[in-house]
Amino acid sequence: MKRRVAILISGRGSNMAALIEAARLADFPAEIVVVISNRADADGLEKARQSGIAAVTIESQPFGKDRAAFEAVLQSALDQHRIDLICLGGFMRLLTAEFVQRWFGRMLNIHPSLLPSFPGLDPQGQALRAGVKISGATVHFVVAETDAGPIVMQGAVAVSDDDTADTLAARILQIEHRIYPDALRLVASGKIRIEGDVCKTAGSAGGDGALISPAAS
Ligand code: GAR
Repeated sequence: MKRRVAILISGRGSNMAALIEAARLADFPAEIVVVISNRADADGLEKARQSGIAAVTIESQPFGKDRAAFEAVLQSALDQHRIDLICLGGFMRLLTAEFVQRWFGRMLNIHPSLLPSFPGLDPQGQALRAGVKISGATVHFVVAETDAGPIVMQGAVAVSDDDTADTLAARILQIEHRIYPDALRLVASGKIRIEGDVCKTAGSAGGDGALISPAAS
């Protein structure tokens, strides 16, 4: 049986769109049941509806600092849709430790850096200021700490000297759209085992080669 997935967004929803697209495949082990935004003006809501996916707004702003009250409404929407797995896709609202604990092992996030480097805001700018030659994106299980938790999958890109935060973000975003569906496929098909702080992948042989940057020639 396909795992029932909710995608939580706050804005553009390009990762959401990549997940929706991937889940159209008959052999994909998960179905996107609902998209929930904490902002009524999130562009992703319309995109979801155009794809025939139920799209719901639960505005977080009226709840102010009462995160638990917002999450009670969120949880009832998740219950109503009998959700098995949550994918955060640019969801910009901090979640309480209680909510995170309740969903531990069943809630994924994507972040545009090779975690544990550069969590938080402006990860692409952080990468450029640190002068790293390789950056990328990470799909991980959500824990109480922001942009941390057992890593399911990473993808890397070379950073070039003339990159700006925007050009680097655009290249990383292409990687995000590849790895998020692949990571969800692994999790939904039960191939990921969490051992302490680390994920182990059944039948995994690592990646498909080395990425070395810059080229020496
Ligand atoms: C993505 O780049 C995602 O990795 C990032 O927000 C963007 C959302 O774009 N998430 C974080 O920085 C989480 N800390 P999208 O709405 O087009 O998917």
